[in-house]
Amino acid sequence: MKAATSVRVAAVGCGYWGPNVIRNLDAVPGFELCCVCDVDPQRLRPVAARYPAARSTTDIEDIYNDSAVDAIYLSTPVSTHYALVRRALESGKHVLVEKPLATTVDEAEDLARLAAVNKRTLMVGHTFVFSPPVRKIKELIDAGLIGPIYYVETTRVNLGLFQKDVSVLWDLGPHDLSILNYWLDEVPVQVSSRGRSFHDEALEDVAFMTLEFPSGILAQVQLSWLAPSKLRRTSIVGRQRMVVYDDLEPVEKIKVYDRGIDRQPASFGEFQLTYRSGDILSPHLDTTEPLFTECAHFLECIQSGREPDTSPRTGVDIVRVLQAAERSLRFDGAPQLVYDDVAAIERTP
Ligand SMILES: NC(=O)c1ccc[n+]([C@@H]2O[C@H](COP(=O)([O-])OP(=O)(O)OC[C@H]3O[C@@H](n4cnc5c(N)ncnc54)[C@H](O)[C@@H]3O)[C@@H](O)[C@H]2O)c1
Repeated sequence: MKAATSVRVAAVGCGYWGPNVIRNLDAVPGFELCCVCDVDPQRLRPVAARYPAARSTTDIEDIYNDSAVDAIYLSTPVSTHYALVRRALESGKHVLVEKPLATTVDEAEDLARLAAVNKRTLMVGHTFVFSPPVRKIKELIDAGLIGPIYYVETTRVNLGLFQKDVSVLWDLGPHDLSILNYWLDEVPVQVSSRGRSFHDEALEDVAFMTLEFPSGILAQVQLSWLAPSKLRRTSIVGRQRMVVYDDLEPVEKIKVYDRGIDRQPASFGEFQLTYRSGDILSPHLDTTEPLFTECAHFLECIQSGREPDTSPRTGVDIVRVLQAAERSLRFDGAPQLVYDDVAAIERTP
């Protein structure tokens, strides 16, 4: 039984990801899952059967028009995000929309503006920002344990799931971009990207991105729906330490290597390189499901009015990088500025 003051939340989209979202919304104390929706009755049916206390509908307009619904979590295809979020905000609902916020910077900025004007919480489902290993690495970076970061290299590849409306860049790319944004607290200045469409003429199924940050940090991101095995592996190389984060490892997802190179003064102003190879530590990690933390954070932001960790600003920044990467793909890897003008670069954190 939920408390009388519960925030009434509707979940829209019962496809691949939606049922995970719905299970977590239902588990967060303080949320009342009041409605589930999918245009496809076949997808809606099993979810409706599992949550009989929630009303079910195939028409999202029922939710927009229901003044008893406070908030909506949208897990619909990327191409629908802009129109559905816009209608939801216009209807006075708080919104959590799956990544990415929209498919163009103009649309993403429009949504951010509308949420601010209507004083509604708008949050983006950059789930990895709520994952314990990602949060632990953020702690290590902020505590100065890794030292100044030289570069980050990340691989997110598997066989499928091919999306019908967006390329691998827009499907898997938001994960790494949101993680990098969260860890480094800066937006890349420049991006270059190459990719290929092996199975669909219009949508790349493989993309490689190189990002350059204002601090000089370099990041390399490999994305593919066409790989022999699933890999989720990130290396962070800093002056003090190096970190390997493997999200598929059941327990030791993070390994911190006390490794590096030191320059020792030698004779006549010359330097000698010494290789440091110390302990390897694997920090203890919380096991809370990231989606649960994300849903609980959405509730907290609605109730307190605080800015979500995955705010509209973050959502816009990530769409901006994706759009620049997309431009680079069209020009066969030519580097593209993420912001068009220098004043905008100076505005980045
Ligand atoms: N955060 C994550 O880790 C993660 C993982 C997977 C997918 N996603 C995101 O979740 C979203 C959905 O992806 P998916 O793989 O579940 O897609 P999907 O195609 O499997 O499911 C989408 C569902 O939305 C329904 N739908 C479409 N338009 C609708 C509308 N107007 N009203 C109601 N229902 C509608 C479809 O019928 C479908 O059942 C995407 O934005 C994707 O990027 C996020």
